[in-house]
Amino acid sequence: MPSLRIVLAVAAVIAAAPVAPVYAHGDVTPQPIDVTGLDPLGEEWRTENPYRENPKAIEIGTSGYNQNCARCHGLEVISGGLAPDLRYLEKGKAGDEWFIERIRNGAKKQDGTTIMPAFEGTFSQEAMWAIRAYIESVAAE
Ligand code: HEC
Repeated sequence: MPSLRIVLAVAAVIAAAPVAPVYAHGDVTPQPIDVTGLDPLGEEWRTENPYRENPKAIEIGTSGYNQNCARCHGLEVISGGLAPDLRYLEKGKAGDEWFIERIRNGAKKQDGTTIMPAFEGTFSQEAMWAIRAYIESVAAE
């Protein structure tokens, strides 16, 4: 007979299982995003996407998103439920402000556990707005 302790340990592992898919898509190291071809934005943070509907930005943002965000937010921005479905992020400036706040700072639970990493210092502002341009290009009506 397995001891109660083992049974409890197994139960704990099973209970923890639903969070595992977050890490199931391989490497969690952020993948560099090459922003060649986009106008440089300088040091100051924008609050509105300077690349909205810019085809080059959408192209860069598509691969940037799929390599860095899709493991939580879903391929082609269709969430599997692990994280909010970004097709429903508000369009235009209001959505831009919320987007840039989240991607720069990430998100933590109340107990301090990170549920979305902060990307400031990892990606350039240009790369972040390119991802936003892609997300907005597939936004739900
Ligand atoms: C490890 C999983 C994970 C990764 C990777 C991740 N996110 Fe998130 N993201 C989340 C979670 C979880 C939330 C919800 C946070 C909350 O409820 O406060 C979230 C919230 C957001 C929000 C706010 C959505 C809303 O409706 O309020 C945006 C915007 C966002 N993420 C963008 C991104 C982008 C862009 C990337 C890639 C550069 C990314 N995230 C990578 C897990 C992740």
